[in-house]
Amino acid sequence: MKTEQLRHLRRAVLAVAGAATLILGLAAPSQAADPVLRDLATAKGRYIGSAATASELNISSYAALEGTQFNSATPGNEMKWESVEATRGTYNWTGGDNLVSFAQAHSMQVRGHTLVWHSQLPNWLTSGTFTNDALRALLVKHVTDEVTHFKGKINQWDVVNEPLNEDGTYRASLWYNQLGSSYIADALRAARAADPAAKLYINDYNTDGTGSKSDGMYNLAKSLLAQGVPLDGIGFQGHLIVGSVPTTVQTNLQRFADLGLDVAVTELDVRMTLPATTALLTQQKADFKSVVSACLAVSRCVGVTVWGLGDATSWVPSVFPGQGAANIYDENYQPKPAYYGVAEALGWTGTVPVPTASCAVTYGVNQWNTGFTASVTVKNTGTTPVSGWSLTWTYPSGQKVTQAWNATVAQSGTAVTATNVSYNATIAAGGTQAFGFNASWSGSNPAPTDFKLNGTACS
Ligand code: G3I
Repeated sequence: MKTEQLRHLRRAVLAVAGAATLILGLAAPSQAADPVLRDLATAKGRYIGSAATASELNISSYAALEGTQFNSATPGNEMKWESVEATRGTYNWTGGDNLVSFAQAHSMQVRGHTLVWHSQLPNWLTSGTFTNDALRALLVKHVTDEVTHFKGKINQWDVVNEPLNEDGTYRASLWYNQLGSSYIADALRAARAADPAAKLYINDYNTDGTGSKSDGMYNLAKSLLAQGVPLDGIGFQGHLIVGSVPTTVQTNLQRFADLGLDVAVTELDVRMTLPATTALLTQQKADFKSVVSACLAVSRCVGVTVWGLGDATSWVPSVFPGQGAANIYDENYQPKPAYYGVAEALGWTGTVPVPTASCAVTYGVNQWNTGFTASVTVKNTGTTPVSGWSLTWTYPSGQKVTQAWNATVAQSGTAVTATNVSYNATIAAGGTQAFGFNASWSGSNPAPTDFKLNGTACS
């Protein structure tokens, strides 16, 4: 589906949701068109990028957003050594070339990622035995051949990826163990020789705020510059945790910029423990906004790249079991609050559409003289899944919940809130979740009439 069609569809969904909400007597959500992140970034003199793997570019919704919302693309895997030279001496540029073609067709720049890393190396390299000279020659040849192949098509190269330990010392790797830290300068020099116009970066994670690892990167950068090694920028990956974004991102980026380097946020995502709740998604919006704002506050911060645009294909759940929802679009490529956080940081002043759940509740009781057992089924009548739910209602006649199952039920006065448990957090589009509880009553036991799912009234 083309993006314009997606926008129309989204506007239509919002319009329908707005009408439904009005019938229930609530305020209508905003129907403002979604902002275009790349236009906002351009107006600020920066780029906004997103990673994409070959398989993600085959997802039409992914590709539509990648090519219209972003003006920089980073290949998720396709330019890594194991992808381009799985067999020694045989290059396969297809994935990288396709990403470049996609970017060019959509007027996007490309961040090359990555030439020298300890991970995603071909077996022939990791299991081979090489003299120091032979290994150094292999490294230089790889950098030279790959940068030459993409010459003129890549704005920034992550020449060296993740060279440091958490304490700021050099990471033990195939490269460091045999060649010492000089492999970094060698790689940068080879890249410069192959494409003098590309900006050359060292890229790492957990260097986003100040701290030992970041100090290690600072010292490395300073020492390379002092030796005249061609280094143009530092990439800060930004694989962050909701509510725990360092407060020193701006200060940290600035000290690198003050060395005369460009800086960029290169792989931003903000993960959370699932299920995603409204509170977590709201915090995530603030987190994305703060990182993008920190970049904008540093004049040499050239842009921000998000590491994948939708939750459905994120690397996070496979590496951090139980965590996810780290991206700015949801599992169905609908914008999350975080998307609007990025837009706001980039200067957008529109109204964030209120997320509209639509739902239907069936409530049944089996009662005796002082107590009752209630069975509640909540149906997601919307077209997108609900990830994490709270169902609220009031008991005006003094009913008191005593014990619940398949939900955590809390009561404060007349107000009751039932929240999902870990195994029933998601309600698929058109799907249901059921829970029950015991309660006491006296006088009368009318059914509640004001059920709300995640704040939206249900029928
Ligand atoms: O290609 C094989 C496929 O044949 C096989 O069937 C499948 C089964 O697991 O694996 C596929 O390989 C996967 C590869 O991505 C390509 O999709 C690997 O398992 C998987 O581990 C690999 O993950 C990538 C990861 O780097 C590897 O470290 C992620 O997609 C990619 O997003 C991630 O990106 C890194 C950055 O390059 C550097 N910074 C951290 C970031 C997140 O880990």
